[in-house]
Amino acid sequence: MLRSRVIGTGSHVPDRVLTNLELERMVETTDEWIATRTGIKERRIAAEEGTSEMAAKAAKAALKASGLPAKDIDLIVVGTCTGDMAFPSTACFVQSQLGVRAGAAAFDVSAACSGFLYALDVADKYLKSGAAKKAIVVGVDRFSRLIDWTDRSTCVLFGDGAGAVVLSAEKGSKGLLSSRIHSDGRHWDMLYCPSAYPPNPFEQDPSGPAHLVMNGNETFKLAVRTMGQAIKEVMEDTGLSPEDISLLIPHQANLRIINAARERLNLTEDRVFTNLDRYGNTSAGSIPIALDEAVREGRVKDGDVILFVAFGGGLTWASAALKW
Ligand code: ACO
Repeated sequence: MLRSRVIGTGSHVPDRVLTNLELERMVETTDEWIATRTGIKERRIAAEEGTSEMAAKAAKAALKASGLPAKDIDLIVVGTCTGDMAFPSTACFVQSQLGVRAGAAAFDVSAACSGFLYALDVADKYLKSGAAKKAIVVGVDRFSRLIDWTDRSTCVLFGDGAGAVVLSAEKGSKGLLSSRIHSDGRHWDMLYCPSAYPPNPFEQDPSGPAHLVMNGNETFKLAVRTMGQAIKEVMEDTGLSPEDISLLIPHQANLRIINAARERLNLTEDRVFTNLDRYGNTSAGSIPIALDEAVREGRVKDGDVILFVAFGGGLTWASAALKW
């Protein structure tokens, strides 16, 4: 049986750091409020770079780590909801910037903060079926351009960034063991951003500024519930018990949500990776950035089992278990 093995990881965040102290000067908030309610201390903001540029930098780093030449890649899937253009897809820009051969397949998947796990799930289906052999999967978002920077309830939460993995279809016990994706469109209005496109001549009421809107409290409750369900699902699929999990890499939205998931699994803090203090919620970028940092910090070892879980606008939620 073929499995999708991760053979390289990479990430990229913009240089510009926006601290909680700077936000104190922009809106009525405090470092203390943000840190205790969310766990976030600072985030990165893409001033010059577009989504595609961040994605390509992360993908390049992952490709370098894998040791593969770009010509071996036959599939690129990018999870994002903040592409630079309505079309082409961010994946097509990644293809051209990496020099991946013409004729490979490249497309985006839109699932907000669950975008990377959705993209991973899709790429895995191609690799397992033999339709592709080597794939690049990217999670990237640039939420700084969707934020209302006068709204303290949302502007403190998000940051920009990208992460990527290179997948190889290989026989053996290593690779993606299980992956699940879900959505419930009834709750679309918990978290959304109206279209940024100009209205057509027949539209009377353009929807106003394209700012992110979020019902934070309700999203919080749904996040805790759906993440718990999603974790349970992949553990049942694989027969894993909490003791088998070397590292949980959850979507980095709020430390309190992460701790709720950790407590359900009875995991000690050292078995959960967090970096939201430095990056905030980078949406689809969050899990692959965290994975790349965990790998580079030596926290992922041969044979380790890693669990991923995410939730986001849609609502969408997803989980995956991977043997390193
Ligand atoms: N600084 C100071 N006070 C604030 C701020 C701020 N930045 N933001 C809100 N407040 C105030 C509120 O106005 C409220 O004041 P009031 O009691 O006088 O009305 C008080 O703080 C409490 O507000 P709550 O919204 O109840 O605060 P809560 O503890 O729920 O934290 C938060 C809010 C951090 C947004 C939390 O609800 C959360 O993390 N929700 C989930 C967000 C999320 O994970 N989104 C999904 C992923 S994103 C994606 O898919 C794109």
